[in-house]
Amino acid sequence: MILIMDFGGQYSQLIGRRVREASVYCEIVPYNYPIEKIKEKNPEGIIFSGGPASVYGEDSPKCDSEVFNLGIPILGICYGSQLMAQVLDGKVSRATTREYGKTQVNVDNSSLLFSGMDNSITAWMSHTDFIEKAPEGFKVVGNTPICPVAAMESSDKKLYGVQFHPEVEHTKNGRDIIKNFLFKICNCNANWNMEDFINKTVAEIKEEIRDGKAICALSGGVDSSVAAVLVHEAIGDSLTCVFVDHGLLRKDEAKQVVKVFREEFHMNLIAVDARERFLNKLKGVEDPERKRKIIGEEFIRVFEEEQGKLEGIDYLVQGTIYPDVVESGVGKSSVIKSHHNVGGLPEDVNFKLVEPLRQLFKDEVREVGRKLGLSEEVVERQPFPGPGLAIRVLGEVNEDKLKIVREADYIFRDEIKKAGLDREIWQYFALLPNIRSVGVMGDERTYSYTVGLRAVTSIDGMTADWARIPLDVLEKISNRIVNEVEHVNRVVYDITSKPPATIEWE
Ligand code: XMP
Repeated sequence: MILIMDFGGQYSQLIGRRVREASVYCEIVPYNYPIEKIKEKNPEGIIFSGGPASVYGEDSPKCDSEVFNLGIPILGICYGSQLMAQVLDGKVSRATTREYGKTQVNVDNSSLLFSGMDNSITAWMSHTDFIEKAPEGFKVVGNTPICPVAAMESSDKKLYGVQFHPEVEHTKNGRDIIKNFLFKICNCNANWNMEDFINKTVAEIKEEIRDGKAICALSGGVDSSVAAVLVHEAIGDSLTCVFVDHGLLRKDEAKQVVKVFREEFHMNLIAVDARERFLNKLKGVEDPERKRKIIGEEFIRVFEEEQGKLEGIDYLVQGTIYPDVVESGVGKSSVIKSHHNVGGLPEDVNFKLVEPLRQLFKDEVREVGRKLGLSEEVVERQPFPGPGLAIRVLGEVNEDKLKIVREADYIFRDEIKKAGLDREIWQYFALLPNIRSVGVMGDERTYSYTVGLRAVTSIDGMTADWARIPLDVLEKISNRIVNEVEHVNRVVYDITSKPPATIEWE
């Protein structure tokens, strides 16, 4: 087992991911994790993450320096290596220029850390402070023109430090450096896999919830679905899922969610039909932000009402995954404070949160889902916004418009799947701009709606490019929509990237 001590670095979870990729089990703990607990865990190795602080800062994060005497191999990354240097009486200084970005680092490939590599590697640097002098007994095994100690080691004590970030993609040999640390220095076995994650997490949830009860707000999306099934494995019928059908879902979505969770997984599922309630609230509302607010609030009210009907619920399960976690921290449960996934439940709700996927990335969550027996359809589901189709019907929402967008969206999805493009396009959907235009059908003049199609490629939704769907596929989609969906006589395709546009139209 590898213990990753988090000094507040933006890539700490990525270190965890790299270790897991190498099939080695790891845990991420805060930098001030007590030394007794470290001894208890007896890891095969420890990795110190980077962090934004300077080792000379007043409140800079420090670990118990006893950790260097345990005989456990340590790899310090960036701030972690500076801390190692400072505590062991080397010298850390502030550079006048920041070293940032891809940098060529000369390395000594007789070091176990760089074994098998060229003597110059491309590495990702992001630091101001640097190690000017390695501690006594350390050998310098990497440098750059700016950084005299870009890598250092004390092979007797099994202490290693690198100024750059081996965990990020930009460091070309990064995965190999981490593997060298794991297998050549720590002698780990590559025997961990997602099934172990599931078993361990299920055991932890059992231990934590015991005979308590939990509730899960299930949207049917990948993350909440996987979290629900995982917790269900642990506590069975002590988990109740609440699925709110706000009438703004895609075609057949509500039916599918109920089928999967009730019939396939035999879970307690309360499906709340709140369609009329939401539509009433949205009557006459045109402003996108107001629509979002109304939906968010109403969702909470419905959820609270359902929760009020249940007794003795102590835990709230959420499908929070690592990219949703803004702050650096650990622990699978903490009392809700202000913000979280369920559209912002009130602050005074006294649940404890269970977030079993908090340390995983999306593709890892999908793998967990598959292992738990969720279908490809659920596991590969594309992102769908909480406010649903309400922000894809521009302007006032009503049942007629929702029907149009739902049918058009269904055809779009069907054809994208048939064309085998469903995996490569990140998100694709139909929308209904508030436009009607003149057309001609069977010699008759029509004055009907325009449907917009949006399809993007993206990695994380933060930026996106419009998908280059082959024209013959677009043609088929357009024909089908105009022929099969009533009140539509025109189809347009959005060819704007994000930025300057956003993925959704509202
Ligand atoms: P935008 O439109 O901001 O969307 O480029 C980026 C991604 O976020 C999704 N999205 C939402 N997801 N609640 C959500 O859960 C929302 O209110 C919301 N608004 C946008 C959007 O579908 C895209 O994947």
